[in-house]
Amino acid sequence: MTSEPLEAAIEDAARLVAGASHLVAFVGAGLSAESGVPTFRGPEGLWTKMGEPDMRGYDRFLADPKKWWEERSQRAGDMKEFVDALDEAVPNDGHYALRELEEAGFLKHIITQNIDNLHQVAGSQAITEIHGNRTKLRCIECSRRWDIYHFDIEGSPPSCPDCGGIIKGDTVMFGEPIPHDALEECAAQSQMCDCMLLIGTSAVVYPAASFPEQVKSAGGTLIEVNPNETPLSAHSDVILRGAAGEVLPKVTQQAKGIVQE
Ligand code: APR
Repeated sequence: MTSEPLEAAIEDAARLVAGASHLVAFVGAGLSAESGVPTFRGPEGLWTKMGEPDMRGYDRFLADPKKWWEERSQRAGDMKEFVDALDEAVPNDGHYALRELEEAGFLKHIITQNIDNLHQVAGSQAITEIHGNRTKLRCIECSRRWDIYHFDIEGSPPSCPDCGGIIKGDTVMFGEPIPHDALEECAAQSQMCDCMLLIGTSAVVYPAASFPEQVKSAGGTLIEVNPNETPLSAHSDVILRGAAGEVLPKVTQQAKGIVQE
């Protein structure tokens, strides 16, 4: 569908949101851009500036977990900009609009590719973090999670008290399999989903980007919230060509108005 004037598109989106039986938000770095967190692609993107990381990060971790534990609190060179921005970031109006959509009973689940914990800070409850969360540790065997500072390294890296597995940051490294519990929840949510909000994602990273495709091929509707075109634009039923922090509060307000009619 070609993009309509933004206000008309917001009205269309609000009607789809109000009428959905299982609305899911599929979120990318663009939602946190207005919180000062750099995105990865596009003109100012981290990977645009630094190049996409290689896929051997996880193999390097497995070869020497102790090195990761000893360096984990250091500000990694090029990623210093990203880590500093994450430390400073607070939720923006887009995060709060998603919390409000959940509280109003419209939004059933958030699948986020972001690791910044801003959905939780904004008060959202039903969240699956397909790429992990920077404030958590995870056992790579049983996927049990703890707060990032739950364990300290004393000589050798800690092992999972439940299964003896290796523990690492919950953030999914390049080359690391997506934790099976997160993947299963994303699949379950996508199967139930009849309308998906695509918010601030370039939709080029898999398996995450497969979930909007599943929703579409099962007859669901897609609402894209992004100032730029993406590979999913052509498959979207409504396109909101704007910033999430500006557009989502309007969609939320109008959807609540429709239900009160
Ligand atoms: N509101 C909405 N969308 C925005 C905004 C904004 N204010 N600002 C930028 N965007 C859009 C950009 O147009 C772009 O399409 O957000 C998208 C960000 O795309 P990416 O930087 O590729 O981020 P994302 O889609 O989350 O990347 C997926 O790639 O490297 C991995 O692990 C990383 O989780 C990340 C994954």
